[in-house]
Amino acid sequence: MALLDVPAAVNDGVVIKEPITSPPPIGPGAFDSVPTTFIHDSKTNGTASSDESTDGATLATSANGLLDDHSETTKKTGHTRHVVPLINIPGYSVQRKLRVITIGAGFSGLMFAHKIRYEHPEMQNIVTNTIFEARSDVGGTWLVNTYPGVQCDVPSHIYAFPFDPNPDWDRFYSSGAEIHEYMVKTVKKWDLDRDVQLNTKVISVFWQQDLGQWKVIVECNGVQRDEYAEIVISAQGFLNAWNWPDIPGLGKFRGHKVHSANWDHSYDYSKKRIAIIGNGSSGIQILPKLAQLEDTDVLSIQRGPSWIVARMDPGKLLGKSDLGSNPEYTEEDKKLFRENPEALHQYRKKLIDSVNKAFKMFVKGSPENIDNQEFAAQQMAEKLNYDPELCAKLIPTWELGCRRVTPGSGYLESFLLPNVHLKQASIKEITEASIVTVDGEVYPVDVVVCATGFDVSHRPQYPVIGRDGVSLAAKWADEPESYLSVACPDFPNYFIFTGPNAVVGHGSLIEGLSWTADYMIKWLKKIANEDIRSVEPKQSAVDDFVTYGDEIHKTLTWTGQCRSWYKKNRVDGRVTATFPGSALLYKRMISDIRGEDWNIEYNSPNRFRFMGNGFTEYELDESNDLSWYVSK
Ligand SMILES: Cc1cc2nc3c(=O)[nH]c(=O)nc-3n(C[C@H](O)[C@H](O)[C@H](O)COP(=O)(O)OP(=O)(O)OC[C@H]3O[C@@H](n4cnc5c(N)ncnc54)[C@H](O)[C@@H]3O)c2cc1C
Ligand SMILES: NC(=O)c1ccc[n+]([C@@H]2O[C@H](COP(=O)([O-])OP(=O)(O)OC[C@H]3O[C@@H](n4cnc5c(N)ncnc54)[C@H](OP(=O)(O)O)[C@@H]3O)[C@@H](O)[C@H]2O)c1
Repeated sequence: MALLDVPAAVNDGVVIKEPITSPPPIGPGAFDSVPTTFIHDSKTNGTASSDESTDGATLATSANGLLDDHSETTKKTGHTRHVVPLINIPGYSVQRKLRVITIGAGFSGLMFAHKIRYEHPEMQNIVTNTIFEARSDVGGTWLVNTYPGVQCDVPSHIYAFPFDPNPDWDRFYSSGAEIHEYMVKTVKKWDLDRDVQLNTKVISVFWQQDLGQWKVIVECNGVQRDEYAEIVISAQGFLNAWNWPDIPGLGKFRGHKVHSANWDHSYDYSKKRIAIIGNGSSGIQILPKLAQLEDTDVLSIQRGPSWIVARMDPGKLLGKSDLGSNPEYTEEDKKLFRENPEALHQYRKKLIDSVNKAFKMFVKGSPENIDNQEFAAQQMAEKLNYDPELCAKLIPTWELGCRRVTPGSGYLESFLLPNVHLKQASIKEITEASIVTVDGEVYPVDVVVCATGFDVSHRPQYPVIGRDGVSLAAKWADEPESYLSVACPDFPNYFIFTGPNAVVGHGSLIEGLSWTADYMIKWLKKIANEDIRSVEPKQSAVDDFVTYGDEIHKTLTWTGQCRSWYKKNRVDGRVTATFPGSALLYKRMISDIRGEDWNIEYNSPNRFRFMGNGFTEYELDESNDLSWYVSK
């Protein structure tokens, strides 16, 4: 058979398993080149790996000793050489379509689904993607958090899928319901739920080293089944698992008990004595809404204050005079954004620009931090009508930005109402009908609202077992440490959205999710095109990232003197949630694969078998321009 008879039907033990026609390659670059034929090498079962002790560029070490039928290992000049038979397919051909399992259909999982279909359409020939979603609908955070007052704390126009900005947002900060509605509409428009299996919960995940794949056990309607994939993508969220707080006696309370992340809408909260435990972003949004209900008496029980500030001037951004802190967009605004996408683009750019510039505010002692803190203290005092007692209690003394700053619309003003009370103390216990604080005060209540946050340990709620039986929950028991938030040693081919130290602390997370998805796609292309069996970050790279990142964190407000979930609900201790630097630094860092930080195992004992027959796919199409690189 002639060498150039490509694709070959059957050639030297290489069997075409799944011939399909792909869309034309985007360009001649090898990285993006798309094969027209998928070939499964039924005989090759050897692997090669690069590890920290070898020269990754030139040496391949046999990982499991199994070699291709036709291969031989020779010793020449002290080096091991892996001889494998030529495969008669173009270089960089995809030899196996990667099976990807994505866990979760919130913003992260849906963003990834969109990327691989529309922004990188060639991925349709490289991967299959199945998204398992435990809940009955898409939306994640915005499906689940339906408590009164829930809304985003970054401008809606930048809290939207970058591929489908929404000209129709009602307000500067949208309600949770509107965000969920937007997500559902966008999913429908782009058919993003094509590969989503709802009501299907991932209950355990095991790496199978011998097969180079994950076994994923899922449960749907009480029935368990096994699924398999080369790649697992965790898009399961970082503020997803809520728990009742560990307060003695909470279980004995006989009144109505509700958590912010699992709001009970069937209960009538009016005419009740309500205690709200917690003043994070959730509690801050809930309080004014419950205070406005008929005849409620609301007690905020908190262990310390939170910074509340709204400094963005929505009117100025729209070229109008003062519109207040959360104005509605007029029909005229929406019409402009609908009919003139460039106007919307420029508006979104302006918002994102100001958010990125504001990162300096998170540098301890910076002029921006001091200025914003003074501004916030002044604004808070004004909203508290300069009440000395309230100001002393509710305006923090620790650094602005230490924990999530929120616009907190209507929150501070509520404390001026006769039906709203403040108690700053830890809770000793909850009895059948009361809350007792550590100073012995007893507060009889009908309702306890736990706005007490989430399990922020990053530990998976179910077994995730990697190489050599390593459990992710055990590995992250003390400190969750990741590679740039996206991966973890011992967990091959396991990619994470919003893992430990992700860009969750400033601005809108959504753009960051988009960059993360692009990064994952780069890896998936490399894995498929270069016949790679598995990749995982080196422990040494993670150690360096964590150690140096901690030094950067010392300069940032997230290590300030507050308790926050950014530090796993500690006052001191490592920052585990936020990225050690700006969003733009993160973007820069993950725009490259940085292969030197990773261990790579190949499917063949010879890592260069992906060179195939010595040709690129591109040049085999005679209609292609073979001198595209000649620019002058
Ligand atoms: C009340 C609230 C308000 C917020 N407001 C903002 C904001 O204004 N701006 C901002 O930037 N960020 C905000 N956040 C953070 C928000 O979580 C993220 O912006 C974003 O929604 C995260 O999307 P995600 O897809 O990564 O995770 P999620 O939205 O949490 O989605 C994860 C999905 O994975 C599914 N899942 C989990 N485990 C499994 C399993 N074992 N099997 C199958 N499926 C599983 C879940 O059911 C869920 O649907 C807010 C968070 C909360 C809680
Ligand atoms: N768009 C938005 O505006 C918005 C809304 C909601 C949530 N979010 C996101 O979700 C994150 C989490 O917000 P969250 O408010 O749900 O949780 P959170 O910020 O972790 O706040 C939890 C609150 O509960 C208190 N608490 C916890 N356990 C307690 C206990 N045993 N006894 C007494 N108090 C207890 C905490 O007190 P201490 O402070 O003393 O620890 C804290 O005030 C936010 O930071 C933000 O990223 C955003």
